[in-house]
Amino acid sequence: SDKGLETYETFSNSSSSTWRQITLPVVRNNKFTGELIQVGASISSSMNTVNSVKVMLWVSLSLGLIASVLFGYLLIKWSFKPVARITNEVARMGFTDNFDRRLKLPKADDELRQLVRTFNEMLGRIEDGFGRLRRFAGDVSHELRTPIAVLRGEAELALRRDRSPEEYKASLQTIVGESSQMSAIVEDLLLLARAQGQSIPIHPESVAIADLIHDLEQSVRKNFEDKQVRLASNLGELGGHYLQIAKGYIIIAIKNILLNACKHSMSGQEVQLEVRETQREIRFVIIDHGEGIPQEDMPYIFDLFYRADTARNRSAGGVGIGLSLAKALINLHGGKIEVSTTEGGGASFMVALPKEKQAPALASPTMRQKLMSQGKHLSRWPRAFRFRQSKPSS
Ligand SMILES: Nc1ncnc2c1ncn2[C@@H]1O[C@H](COP(=O)(O)OP(=O)(O)OP(=O)(O)O)[C@@H](O)[C@H]1O
Ligand SMILES: [Mg+2]
Repeated sequence: SDKGLETYETFSNSSSSTWRQITLPVVRNNKFTGELIQVGASISSSMNTVNSVKVMLWVSLSLGLIASVLFGYLLIKWSFKPVARITNEVARMGFTDNFDRRLKLPKADDELRQLVRTFNEMLGRIEDGFGRLRRFAGDVSHELRTPIAVLRGEAELALRRDRSPEEYKASLQTIVGESSQMSAIVEDLLLLARAQGQSIPIHPESVAIADLIHDLEQSVRKNFEDKQVRLASNLGELGGHYLQIAKGYIIIAIKNILLNACKHSMSGQEVQLEVRETQREIRFVIIDHGEGIPQEDMPYIFDLFYRADTARNRSAGGVGIGLSLAKALINLHGGKIEVSTTEGGGASFMVALPKEKQAPALASPTMRQKLMSQGKHLSRWPRAFRFRQSKPSS
């Protein structure tokens, strides 16, 4: 204040009353006159109000904190109630392989409902898979029972009494025949399981359509000749076109269709193998003029072990693996396979393979790496590569 500045001071005395004092300099003609005006007043009541507001704030803050923790806890508990219910339901399902139960959908149409729906769909798929696995195990044992019984019967018959070397030889030949048929079934089943699980080593190569057809004709020639059925191939202009495929597997697939066509044709008939082109696909069409496939069997012929109960089929005695294997191998290449009826009876199969792009299963680097790393299994599939060995050196 001595220097002409405005000041204010607060002080309290022993009786705890608080005072504030303001000192103002008196200025005349822009000059401090040395006079001061001093005003003071008790601010105790204001301080009391500030203090009680302070206490109130602290109390309400603490209460608010406690209330929000409590409320938050209850809210979380309430909103997690459906999750707890779902957890209980899942736990009650137990670890059995009985997947026919489904979770109850929550009422609210929110993310949790979506989650439950997705979970139920997953249960459906698992149930499907388990069902297929059970049927598969049942069917396989059923299919293998007959050849095993033949093997055993033949061996028991041979051992019943002493026989001539010729008789033993004949029995052993029957046994060898039956057992090679059995190993062919098992080999096909293994290949099918791996193709369906997309876990066979695939090494796509550039294959000219003319070469593919040539190898196919070679691989079925004997069957067609034995049955006196003619195989007429028509490549059009497409012989020089290249496809990115695992040739051995495509040959297995189309060969199975050609052998079916041969099996269901009569002596003297003709089977046509035509190659056609669409914007995105190369199509192989196999047309026969045999008995055809009854309409009611059409939806099932690609199912494993399915055989239409026709007279010729009974005598031909197939196992019912061929078409499911063909379908799995074609799918593996991103292609498709369809069946229709040939005009005037007979069956017509169409295998479509993508022209340019490889199938996702073949193109994905992770899948490819996985398959390469499993390359050691390659030798397990001699049939796939036998065709290549038999290719003439023309
Ligand atoms: N070209 C065809 N003409 C008539 N029926 C056919 C023809 N191709 C397939 N089928 C029917 O479809 C069924 C399934 O064929 P698939 O090739 O899967 O089995 P299969 O020939 O009986 O046995 P496998 O091929 O395992 O030796 C056959 O049993 C037959 O009933
Ligand atoms: Mg077949």
